[in-house]
Amino acid sequence: MIEMQGLRKDFTVRVRKGVLRREKRTVTAVDGIDLTIAEGEMVGYIGPNGAGKSTTLKMLTGVLAPSAGAVSVCGLTPVPQRTRLALRIGVVFGQRSQLWWDLPLRDSFALLRHVYRVPADAHAARLRRCRALLELDGFLDTPVRQLSLGQRMRGELTAALLHGPSVLFLDEPTIGLDVVSKQAVRSFLAELGATGAVTLVLTTHDLADIERLCRRLVVIDHGRVVHDGTIEALHSRYGSRRRLVADLDVPLRPGFTVPGAELVSLEADGHRASFDLLSSSAGAVVGELTALASVRDLSLVEPDIEDVVARLYRS
Ligand SMILES: Nc1ncnc2c1ncn2[C@@H]1O[C@H](COP(=O)(O)OP(=O)(O)OP(=O)(O)O)[C@@H](O)[C@H]1O
Ligand SMILES: [Mg+2]
Repeated sequence: MIEMQGLRKDFTVRVRKGVLRREKRTVTAVDGIDLTIAEGEMVGYIGPNGAGKSTTLKMLTGVLAPSAGAVSVCGLTPVPQRTRLALRIGVVFGQRSQLWWDLPLRDSFALLRHVYRVPADAHAARLRRCRALLELDGFLDTPVRQLSLGQRMRGELTAALLHGPSVLFLDEPTIGLDVVSKQAVRSFLAELGATGAVTLVLTTHDLADIERLCRRLVVIDHGRVVHDGTIEALHSRYGSRRRLVADLDVPLRPGFTVPGAELVSLEADGHRASFDLLSSSAGAVVGELTALASVRDLSLVEPDIEDVVARLYRS
């Protein structure tokens, strides 16, 4: 569905050198990306600020022409075939709006039907679904400029979907949303993804979006791919460990050992002990621990995606 080969984007910028002199400098935003994304995949495209995510999405959607390399989406080359591509893709750039500022959402949606020449019944069916899942009814008749950010984002998502695109590019679709709106947007996208009919590429700084939605995680930095795989693969690459937290009737002493785990902290005067699991099976460790100590309660904590991604960015 999406193919990038040696994709590259250089920007020429002028930097001030003294009072009158300006010097040209080249900024390489995307530095040779090779990626293939199959139909129905949900891909999280993440990376630190300035990594080149938005620039990649702009090249995929035909907003920017690549400096080098090849890109194809739905079998089309985005820049020369931008109009044809527009019928096949839906785009949300969280920081920009594609809606008409002075029109109520309802009218924007009606206009989009004509822009994309969508048959009335298909349009009505998709709008009905978005209205229900994204709870648009309270503000369909409000002009876009009066909408809150979360309301507008739900409108943007709807606008991106009314022509039934097969690929969806979302650049920070949950930026600035409250917890409830984020959940609404995530479950909406999850439902969309579950049909397998839509290929999704999503950038975000909220890693919960990725955990909820994407099987595949592509991490870029300085315009290059530094990880491509599942979240689990990332954890095993960086040696993330699961943690076992035990509440104990009789306190443990520092230096306590249990096979298969490593004691990492003791709290509450030794009544609460945290262990890193050295193997993937918690069962054996729990067995050993309950034989050695008087355990009142146990919990298993999965490794945190924020931690592992922070480690990846730092490295
Ligand atoms: N139009 C432009 N002209 C010059 N430089 C640009 C332009 N657009 C982007 N850049 C530069 O390219 C690099 C990548 O920018 P990009 O917007 O793709 O990053 P990003 O990964 O989307 O970051 P963020 O997480 O902050 O949104 C940055 O160094 C940025 O300053
Ligand atoms: Mg960006």
